[in-house]
Amino acid sequence: MSSTNPKTDNNLATRRSFLQASTVAAAGVALNSAGSASAAATEKLAIQGGSAAIPNPNTDAWRWPRYTEVEGEALAKMLMAPDYSDIPALEEEWKEQTGAPYAKAYCNGTSVLLSMYFALNLPPGSEIMVPSYTFFASVVPMRLFGLVPVFVDINPRTLNFDLEDAKKRLTPNTRAILPVHWIGLPCDMDAISDWAKEEGLIVLEDCAHAQYAKLKGKHMGTFSDMAIFSYQMSKPLPGIEGGMGLYSTQEYHDRATIFGHYDTPGIPADSAYKKYHGTGLGTKTRMHPLAAKLIRLQMRDLKERVAAGVAQTRRLNDVLTQLPGLYEQTSGRSDVERLYYEWNMLFIDEKEAGVSRQAVVDALRAEGVRADALAYRLQHEQPLYKEAEWWHHLPTITELPGSTAANATSIALPYFTTDAPEMVEGYIKAFEKVWAHRKELA
Ligand SMILES: Cc1ncc(COP(=O)(O)O)c(C=O)c1O
Repeated sequence: MSSTNPKTDNNLATRRSFLQASTVAAAGVALNSAGSASAAATEKLAIQGGSAAIPNPNTDAWRWPRYTEVEGEALAKMLMAPDYSDIPALEEEWKEQTGAPYAKAYCNGTSVLLSMYFALNLPPGSEIMVPSYTFFASVVPMRLFGLVPVFVDINPRTLNFDLEDAKKRLTPNTRAILPVHWIGLPCDMDAISDWAKEEGLIVLEDCAHAQYAKLKGKHMGTFSDMAIFSYQMSKPLPGIEGGMGLYSTQEYHDRATIFGHYDTPGIPADSAYKKYHGTGLGTKTRMHPLAAKLIRLQMRDLKERVAAGVAQTRRLNDVLTQLPGLYEQTSGRSDVERLYYEWNMLFIDEKEAGVSRQAVVDALRAEGVRADALAYRLQHEQPLYKEAEWWHHLPTITELPGSTAANATSIALPYFTTDAPEMVEGYIKAFEKVWAHRKELA
């Protein structure tokens, strides 16, 4: 592949500067914002005919994934001589990164969840607590093994598993829980696991969004009996498609693996599942080796990429969260190392702000901000969970006020995946303008 492709060269340059730029712009943004707050009040809002804070938004700022010629060349080489060796290599590297004893690669995160529910080996009718505020794949595969979801609420400010709500939803049939680390913010796995242990529950983790997130220095995915990751292309570690399972025991690893793999190099000769080598159990969920190659290449600067993205988001949010009634997604814990994925999620307290979410979003959009009054699809509201034919017994559907509140208050901004100081400044300017005029908007 040519190294003079301007698009690719530009990608490389942008990527390098993103990884290096973390601290340089911080002081500048803070200074600018101090002076700009009063200026904001005198400027006419774009929605009222004034000029936009960001007349030419950089729509490349949130483009993802950002592959370069390095990935292009590696894939082209593999096409000339295909082989599978990147898959076990990735499994080893993922164990090394996370500290988990067992790992298995899959073609996507959904198939990791499917095989995980098979590996549980629970009797039909067993209930699993899971947030309703999640992607279908966390929940729906349960039904194929007679498992039944019990929907748990989330905290509307963390978008994560609400332990206090879970405590109220325990039934004699509850066997396991599946917290989801939403858009890279770790759940309180210490408190959740302690409680689960007391109640004799199996702990699972959905780390589809948490590729380099930690709690108390421990990688997400290692607080549980089994955990899943997704490498789908929107995710922080993109393989276009792909998934990884982490297992705390050989038994879980072997049972999950045999569900979708006829080839069993990771299953030892003395395993009860070894006899199924060559047949598996009827499905094939092997990762594509091109995906394994992409993921391994993307792992090289994952840590630095996450650090740069978090630093840039802090520069933005540290200013925005000073505005009355505006909050960010956080657990407030200092022992958490999060990452961001897809969205930088803010919340508005309309009473405190003195203006409606929709009025703010409309005004921000006119200023050039890609703001959305996001309402994520809640699983418990979907028809599937209300039709008895698909379940051992119907899931109990109750009100989930935290999930409803999250959908009523969130303002989703894009997560900037590259160094974009002009966008950070522009977003600050736009928010300050809108906030300075919010009484008029109200
Ligand atoms: C929370 C969650 N779990 C599981 C998955 C499934 O992953 P995949 O798309 O790789 O099947 C996703 C994908 O978006 C997800 O968001």
